[in-house]
Amino acid sequence: MLGWILHKHSDFLIKPETYEIQKLIVEGNKVGIEIKVLQPEQIEIIVNRDDRKSIFVNDVQTSLPDFIIPRMGAGTTYFALALIRHLEKLGVYSFNSANSIEIVKDKLYQLQILAEVGMPIPKTMLAKFPLSLKVVDKHIGFPVVVKTISGSQGSGVFLCDKLESLEELMHMVENTNPNVNLIFQEFIQPSFGRDLRVVTVGGRVVGAMVRSSADGNFKANYSRGGLISKFDITPEIEWLVLEIARRLDLDIAGIDLLFDGDGFKICEVNSSPGFEGLEKACEKNIASEIIHFVKLRLDMKLKLK
Ligand SMILES: Nc1ncnc2c1ncn2[C@@H]1O[C@H](COP(=O)(O)OP(=O)(O)O)[C@@H](O)[C@H]1O
Ligand SMILES: [Mg+2]
Repeated sequence: MLGWILHKHSDFLIKPETYEIQKLIVEGNKVGIEIKVLQPEQIEIIVNRDDRKSIFVNDVQTSLPDFIIPRMGAGTTYFALALIRHLEKLGVYSFNSANSIEIVKDKLYQLQILAEVGMPIPKTMLAKFPLSLKVVDKHIGFPVVVKTISGSQGSGVFLCDKLESLEELMHMVENTNPNVNLIFQEFIQPSFGRDLRVVTVGGRVVGAMVRSSADGNFKANYSRGGLISKFDITPEIEWLVLEIARRLDLDIAGIDLLFDGDGFKICEVNSSPGFEGLEKACEKNIASEIIHFVKLRLDMKLKLK
């Protein structure tokens, strides 16, 4: 069996995905799956070719893989999405599907889908310029979390404690990048500097950990140097995350939940979650869970999608 991991760099030793990719290759090899790492740009999309069993990679005609695992998450470009769709049309199974990656890449779109079915999400609104500070104050209030529509590792996420700091941030945005799409979100105070990351694979929870910021910041991302500890999943959280993954049609999902009193609010969902921290915290082999699911899914040859 042959699989391709689609990654921003064909040299996967370039951070930040090194660990995950290396581990998937090793676990794949253990069960007879060969995995190659390719950059979408190395592959040619020729829509009207008659031969639907091969594709051009670096200008060389190459047999199609049995499956692909796109690992570009929020950084998935239009070209990469077009390629994933193309491979799907040629009968290659993608973990996750192009459609689900596209939805999840957009932090507002994923929440819109979850809100529609009544899932617990923080109050969220889309920015439009010129921004009415009064409207943000009235509908969301302060502190407010400001996020770029697409982003990861906490880099596009800000906290404004009062109207004046939001005004300053918006001035800066208007002067530097006025076309950026931003969302404003209710700040879930009980979750300050802390969140719950759950990874699901093929309709099962494979690991959960609490992440806490180590430097007093409100963001808990592991990639920012956050602390991690194993979390024993409750039936309630299990149901919630599996339902989220199902609604967003994700085979593999990294779900961030915010602590909110006795319950939880959904922070965001990722389509290619890192799992280095989770493996450490839970002493689990997440790469092996992914590979086993891929194998099972392909062996069954069920047409569930
Ligand atoms: N509405 C919120 N209330 C409280 N904390 C939040 C909220 N949104 C995000 N955070 C914190 O900021 C971190 C990064 O936000 P997130 O939306 O997950 O962005 P990224 O995609 O960059 O990881 C979260 O892990 C959480 O700790
Ligand atoms: Mg996150």
